[in-house]
Amino acid sequence: FADGPLAGRHVLVTSGPTHEPIDPVRYIANRSSGAQGTAIAAALRDLGARVSFVTGPASVAPPEGVEVIRVETARQMHEAAMAALPADAAVMAAAVADWHVANAADRKVKKTRDGTPALDFAENPDILHAISHAEARPRLVVGFAAETDDVTAHATAKRDRKGCDWIVANDVSPATGIMGGAENAVTLITDAGAEDWPRLSKAETARRLAARIAEALA
Ligand code: C5P
Repeated sequence: FADGPLAGRHVLVTSGPTHEPIDPVRYIANRSSGAQGTAIAAALRDLGARVSFVTGPASVAPPEGVEVIRVETARQMHEAAMAALPADAAVMAAAVADWHVANAADRKVKKTRDGTPALDFAENPDILHAISHAEARPRLVVGFAAETDDVTAHATAKRDRKGCDWIVANDVSPATGIMGGAENAVTLITDAGAEDWPRLSKAETARRLAARIAEALA
């Protein structure tokens, strides 16, 4: 693939959930499988890109032929993503926890007679916002938005708020079966407006997105 349309390009992809420790044996997580981010990294690789794949603890295996950087927490993902710059493009597909436990214990929390433990939360870094405002900002920054209503309006507002170039928005209402499923139906938000893509496999969605990225960087 050394002669693909993305040959010589470096693309950062974040993927998967993050785990936020409560103590050494417990954590808070989310249901992201990492399937869409993994498919995107594979599709970019297939077009010849060098891919830095920063992944939380996903339930699908990372693709072959990419540089895999495994992290656990949002703070580690932030560090790894920034360290992967410079890049020509960044695709931020991770489901990053909004908060971490500020009073995480360094020993296992024990059951006691005097009540249940209280968790204090602190905000995590917004990695997409940070990459979009980095000194070495990639030429194309793509974020994701999982919405359940007013998908285009919310995703367009998110694009402005985060400072990224594109948002890949999907409707994750339970009725769509998209969350955790094999298919996706996305709306691509660019500066030219909103484009509804048909319902496709996550692999095909990834191939289309990779092709659009190659066009944009050409
Ligand atoms: O704000 P929200 O989580 O809805 O935004 C989703 C987009 O922002 C995704 O691209 C996700 O990877 C990214 N994000 C991030 N760091 C965060 C929160 C979200 O990179 N702390």
